[in-house]
Amino acid sequence: MTLPDDGTREEPERSVAAAFTREHHQIDEGIERFLADAAERDPARRARPLLSAMEALRRHIYLEEEVVFPRLPPGPLMMSLMVMRREHGELWTRMDALAEILEDDSSAASGIVEACTELLSLLEDHNRKEEPIIYPHLDTDLSPQEQSLVRELLAGSALPEGWICQALR
Ligand SMILES: [Fe+2]
Ligand SMILES: [Fe+2]
Repeated sequence: MTLPDDGTREEPERSVAAAFTREHHQIDEGIERFLADAAERDPARRARPLLSAMEALRRHIYLEEEVVFPRLPPGPLMMSLMVMRREHGELWTRMDALAEILEDDSSAASGIVEACTELLSLLEDHNRKEEPIIYPHLDTDLSPQEQSLVRELLAGSALPEGWICQALR
């Protein structure tokens, strides 16, 4: 029996767009947790959610640039993808600066909150374009095989050693 096509989509967790959007939220939450945890006296323990968020963001950008973006139809998305890559470069530079502040204990108190707030606002600006303009294509323009590959990589891949985003090469 053929069911009528009522336009229902896959479950959210089967949607690659939803999985990438969820990762945006998890990354934001990690940075926010760091900002909210000013009472934590142990700097290494306090930095943990921020370091995990940055690690996740670097891998997120890697998967977008190396796996997802090259598989999208280039024509109508070309300009938007260029903007996304340029903004990845800005995010990457901010993360490098943040990592440097975190390594230098003496300046940990000064500048870190501002740097995190700046990173959050860059992310908000980036994600509010990426989610409606790029992400719908992840579910409609990637083949089922490509979608499973991306889901697999999201679930269990690491950033290759030494990889940096395309805008900074
Ligand atoms: Fe993203
Ligand atoms: Fe992105």
